[in-house]
Amino acid sequence: MNRRHLLLGSGAAAAAAAGLGAYAVTRGPSYDAAAEAVWAERTQRQPNELHYLVHHATLAANSHNTQPWLFSGGKDHVTIRPDLNRATPAVDPDNHHLFTSLGCAAENLGIAASASSRSNAVDFLPGKDEVRISLGGDGAIADRLFEAIYDRQCTRSTYDSRLVPAVELKALEDAARMAGCSLMLITEKRRMEQILELILAANTAQIADEAFVRELKHWLRFNPAEAIKHGDGLYSACTGNPAMPSWIADMVFGLVFTAEAENAKCTEQVRSSAGFAVFVSDRNDKNHWVQAGRSYQRFALASTALGIRHAFLNQPVEIARYRAELSSLLGIGDRRPDLVVRFGYSDAMPRSLRRPVSEVIVAG
Ligand SMILES: Cc1cc2nc3c(=O)[nH]c(=O)nc-3n(C[C@H](O)[C@H](O)[C@H](O)COP(=O)(O)O)c2cc1C
Repeated sequence: MNRRHLLLGSGAAAAAAAGLGAYAVTRGPSYDAAAEAVWAERTQRQPNELHYLVHHATLAANSHNTQPWLFSGGKDHVTIRPDLNRATPAVDPDNHHLFTSLGCAAENLGIAASASSRSNAVDFLPGKDEVRISLGGDGAIADRLFEAIYDRQCTRSTYDSRLVPAVELKALEDAARMAGCSLMLITEKRRMEQILELILAANTAQIADEAFVRELKHWLRFNPAEAIKHGDGLYSACTGNPAMPSWIADMVFGLVFTAEAENAKCTEQVRSSAGFAVFVSDRNDKNHWVQAGRSYQRFALASTALGIRHAFLNQPVEIARYRAELSSLLGIGDRRPDLVVRFGYSDAMPRSLRRPVSEVIVAG
């Protein structure tokens, strides 16, 4: 598990050692029901087209699962604005991840529009800092990635070390093609170890940073009740770890969230993966960050359709010094590496939650 997703397995052990084991709680039916409701299919008529489109947009990946978006729209367009109340300044001081998350949502929205035969065009409006998806009339061809929207997830487990066949790597590259950014697939073990080194160095720096840890903890959900109450954030069971009451989590958090433990987990995760997908913007501005998010989302859906799992390990792109080292390792000059994603094979994990669609639709 990486630093976003605590070693609550060790936390449970620490709690047990402290005589608190009896208080550990597991994922219950209410969480499963909540997750099933979130990930259920909707149609464009139920309850209406905007709801249908926004529902699919909100199933996109987004940093810390803060869901930093607000939607408005009508018959011929949908607008996505950033919800800056949900920014994460410690890990994401320039809102790069926030705008990338809007790109992920925009891509899902466009794909959902195509599945109801509507053409769509995604544009970033720099003056307004918003993403606009213009919707055309009937007759568009449904994007074949649509079905994968319901199955995509970030799978933060150890993978089974199998390699991805070359023909499927090519299919992922094709699916992720997007103006303004490029995808680098890295499968050579020596290169993967070099990237792992940067992940570990950046992870150690982040865990030593009080503001980073405080912000991360704010978005962690340690048990089903907390996860369901908020409908956002990072729920521990999504990494296969036991849930526990918040007061126990408060006690053990500092004990288990150590650079040593997190780095050991990251190392195992990377060494069990088939490769890294690194997304690189042509230019370092919001428009291109949105494009990188769109490209990632397409990569994620295409890999899901092929039975390939993935999860982010973004530590080296989140600290300027390590981002520069990564650029130099990748030989990309002064272009910005936006996202680092590992991929490979493993079973699915529990799903993450989302807030109700009605909470993120606002007047235009
Ligand atoms: C821009 C961006 C950055 C992210 N960074 C990380 C990360 O560094 N580590 C991680 O485990 N997940 C990361 N995520 C994944 C989110 O935590 C995940 O999408 C969210 O919790 C919702 O879960 P789901 O994608 O499984 O639905 C990132 C997602 C986005 C879009």
